[in-house]
Amino acid sequence: MSSTSAQIGVTGLAVMGRNLARNFARNGYTVALHNRTSAKTRALVEEFGDEGDFIATETAEEFVAALERPRRLVVMVKAGEATDAVIKEFAPLMEPGDMIIDGGNAHFADTRRRERELREQDIHFVGTGVSGGEEGALNGPSIMPGGSPESYASLGPMLEKISAKAEDGAPCVTHVGADGAGHFVKMVHNGIEYADMQLIAEAYQLLREVAGYSPAQIADIFRTWNTGRLDSYLIEITAEVLKHVDAATGKPFVDVVQDQAEQKGTGRWTVQIALDLGVPVSGIAEAVFARSLSGHSELRAASQGLPGPTAQQLSEAEAGAFADQVEQALYASKIVSYTQGFHEIAAGSEEYGWDIDLGAVAAIWRGGCIIRAAFLDRIRAAYDTRADLPSLLSDKTFAQEIGAAQDDWRAVLVAATRQGVPTPGFSAALAYYDALRADRLPAALTQGQRDFFGAHTYRRTDREGSFHTLWGGDRSEVGA
Ligand SMILES: NC(=O)c1ccc[n+]([C@@H]2O[C@H](COP(=O)([O-])OP(=O)(O)OC[C@H]3O[C@@H](n4cnc5c(N)ncnc54)[C@H](OP(=O)(O)O)[C@@H]3O)[C@@H](O)[C@H]2O)c1
Repeated sequence: MSSTSAQIGVTGLAVMGRNLARNFARNGYTVALHNRTSAKTRALVEEFGDEGDFIATETAEEFVAALERPRRLVVMVKAGEATDAVIKEFAPLMEPGDMIIDGGNAHFADTRRRERELREQDIHFVGTGVSGGEEGALNGPSIMPGGSPESYASLGPMLEKISAKAEDGAPCVTHVGADGAGHFVKMVHNGIEYADMQLIAEAYQLLREVAGYSPAQIADIFRTWNTGRLDSYLIEITAEVLKHVDAATGKPFVDVVQDQAEQKGTGRWTVQIALDLGVPVSGIAEAVFARSLSGHSELRAASQGLPGPTAQQLSEAEAGAFADQVEQALYASKIVSYTQGFHEIAAGSEEYGWDIDLGAVAAIWRGGCIIRAAFLDRIRAAYDTRADLPSLLSDKTFAQEIGAAQDDWRAVLVAATRQGVPTPGFSAALAYYDALRADRLPAALTQGQRDFFGAHTYRRTDREGSFHTLWGGDRSEVGA
């Protein structure tokens, strides 16, 4: 084999890069390998060299020279400064038309900057979201590439081959849009993932504390739910986690794990960017805050003696009926999370001129990624029916479903409040639903207050123009 025959190269051979490289090789591509610490390159070839054609390289020059032109160089290193360091090392060795594909979890603003800088050198920088963890990287992830259409023409067929396939056989990859669009969509994907996980966690807590079910019983409930409209990877693994018994103590695994959730940052970015764009993603924000609150151990310890309501356990028959209501609340809240997430993608697309096809995004999340779910096919269908849908709640089917769920949703929140079980995700979702459908919001009063203390002016319901009331004077109204 010639030393310049690799169709693709991967640098950064930790868990993600190594599995992605193997995935390309298993699909028949010759893959050049590189890692800062070359022992990892050698280890990959020793362990998995028989899975396909690999070209192991040690130096940056050797690596770049091993790639056929135009070069396709995938960077799978720690996001942030490491990505800049790697680009600085490789870009001078590359030529016009070559592609650098960043598959790490970069912030989309960094991707926009890197794309702009490399464009000056006529190098295509393809910021690419990859979801599915190490398992997905090996067997088929959901892939969200940004960058130029030319780069997708060259890279797309390879990504389609290694990606997950949805149930209808469609590859879970699409050209999301220019520059940072792919990483933006991956960011929102992770925000939605946080919300999904929080809602599932709240459902678990309610089934445990209000209905009195054991973790094993709740696992069975989740398994049943997984055969219906909540069918999803996250519900499936939740049942597995709840069923698991700790070998050392014989207790349910969930009872021996510290209740302090960690986060890496993409959920937080989703909320920060939503604030900048003025998009209400309250469900996602509550999920991020719930993890953050769980980690404040000293604050929690100091508050543990505060009074709460007297617990009242449900009878067996009541518990069964309550579980059905929780399913309704979970499903309705999930519709709201996705409504908010897709609103953020639409707003980002508008702000940065990406022209993102929302239905295509839903379609590529149907397989490979952490939030994969039967539900996503319905979102795709909603956008197929109407590409400019103002909100998922405007889709007839989703509107009907959420309407049918709302009584149970409210009943669950009444029970949660009465029993003192925190449900920030469910509650935020219902507040969003009620606010959107309201005829009048108290924002009118807020405007009055703003005009009173800051002469910020207000608009009237019956006349055009801006107005200010002379609050300190005779309270007459003046046009502003
Ligand atoms: N883990 C997941 O489930 C997942 C899912 C989706 C996306 N991602 C993203 O995929 C990327 C890779 O993730 P990972 O978990 O496989 O690895 P990681 O722990 O994030 O990064 C380790 C890799 O980065 C390299 N590296 C670190 N600093 C470097 C530098 N200054 N110069 C050159 N190389 C440097 C390391 O090389 P050495 O071996 O020499 O230290 C190693 O190959 C990350 O951006 C991550 O956010 C991860």
